[in-house]
Amino acid sequence: MAEVIIVEDARAGGALVGRALADQLREQPDLVLGLATGSTPSSTYAALAEIVRAESIPVDRLTGFALDEYVGLPAGHPESYREVLIREVVAPLGLDPSQIHVPEMLPDDPQRSGEVYEAAIDAAGGVDVQLLGIGRSGHIGFNEPGSSLASRTRIKTLTEHTRVDNSRFFDSLDDVPIQCMTQGVGTILRAKRLVMLAFGAAKAEGIAAAIEGPLTAAVPASAIQLHEYVTVVVDEAAASRLEHTDSYRSAWAHKPAWQSLLPIGAPRRSDG
Ligand code: F6R
Repeated sequence: MAEVIIVEDARAGGALVGRALADQLREQPDLVLGLATGSTPSSTYAALAEIVRAESIPVDRLTGFALDEYVGLPAGHPESYREVLIREVVAPLGLDPSQIHVPEMLPDDPQRSGEVYEAAIDAAGGVDVQLLGIGRSGHIGFNEPGSSLASRTRIKTLTEHTRVDNSRFFDSLDDVPIQCMTQGVGTILRAKRLVMLAFGAAKAEGIAAAIEGPLTAAVPASAIQLHEYVTVVVDEAAASRLEHTDSYRSAWAHKPAWQSLLPIGAPRRSDG
């Protein structure tokens, strides 16, 4: 069972996770953070940046690895995930842009692009804490339903569903790229800790399937059930289809601090 924390709203979830990340960064200045994009992690990045500034936590040794990137957007496109991360993470935290890595398709050798990204993650010592959102289809990263649970970073085609969801960031659906490069499910599972965030009723079904449904490639997010250290932070709306909310609430309310996965700290045994 994952550690499931039900919070009031995205702001409260962001404050909780932002605090945990800031405390970990103070203890471990060379933290390697796996970065999700989209709407969900924004409140976490904002909270983290606020704490880092207020408490003068050094960030010069922090490294970030994006989960995914669109293929085919011109360099500097405001909706490329590199640019999104520059706006939401690099600038507010005061990082050098070189501290953030984003998967990049090598035009001369698309097949090798994934291996290059995996090698960069390995060279950094692996991801310490991977932040995850979840798509309505149950995707993590851009691993759409049917993705191999052992997959590594590679080029994928986005589903129509995801393109429609993400068209809110573009002028029209036609402007949403068709392909992307994404860390694989297997890549994500290699991170030392996973923190999944989901806010709003549109995520309720995916969250229920990910946490309580069967482990299946049809719901790539269900692969988090294979990970030993996973915390899921949801608001009431995103939790509304979960069956075992009573046990999640009482576990969180009564869990001794040493047993909780948040604050993040060194891996500890949870009762999950
Ligand atoms: C983005 C990513 C996706 C999003 C998911 C939810 O890097 O990997 O899996 O986390 O599509 O997107 P939002 O947060 O915009 O609802």
